[in-house]
Amino acid sequence: MTKTEYAAIEKYMLTQMKDSAHDKHHIYRVLNFAVDIYEYENSVDFDVLVAACLLHDIGREKQFAGLDSRCHAQIGGEMAYEFLISRSWAAEKAAHVKECVSSHRYRGNNKPNSIEAKILFDADKLEASGAIGIARTLICGGQVAEPLYILDDSGSIVIDGKGLETSEGIQVSSFFQEYNFKIKKVYDSFFTKRAKELAAKRQQTAVDFYNGLYAEITENYEHGAKKHFS
Ligand SMILES: [Fe+2]
Repeated sequence: MTKTEYAAIEKYMLTQMKDSAHDKHHIYRVLNFAVDIYEYENSVDFDVLVAACLLHDIGREKQFAGLDSRCHAQIGGEMAYEFLISRSWAAEKAAHVKECVSSHRYRGNNKPNSIEAKILFDADKLEASGAIGIARTLICGGQVAEPLYILDDSGSIVIDGKGLETSEGIQVSSFFQEYNFKIKKVYDSFFTKRAKELAAKRQQTAVDFYNGLYAEITENYEHGAKKHFS
């Protein structure tokens, strides 16, 4: 890819990235992971991969602004296709980038097929591993006012299942539930050998943080005010 083409795609990406867990630095880290994985794989279309990494989250703003009811991967795939066609990309290549973007979600039913889509998926999921995965999960929770933890009737931290329903009927889950739903399982979701290796190196940091936070909060309640009230 030429520097001019990279700069044009990057410039478009920068106009779309407004949330702090999915900001431009998330995009650059995903691109760095993807290039690392690319070096261990064969027959990868580098231009498609770079464009897909840069554009993979451009649909988020429209989704969260309520301008489109579809998920950000579907919205972003179409936006990427239209943008690349406007940059005179061949329809086949632009459609390949669209396929990568629309299949990068962990929660999505649309699974990646091509090697470029699998590398983007893995690079994006590495952002949910290790310390950065914990930090980004906490930021995401804060953005939608989710609680750090929810206690059950016996005073234990709820670690899975559904969250609490607010008086407005909205389900809110906690960091502990999100960790057990996604963050803990992300290490088993990679397609490429290199991504598995990178994730495995980072896993213990996340496990230690989770266990440490669980222990600190539990201990706080056990030794605190409650024992003074009958
Ligand atoms: Fe992403």
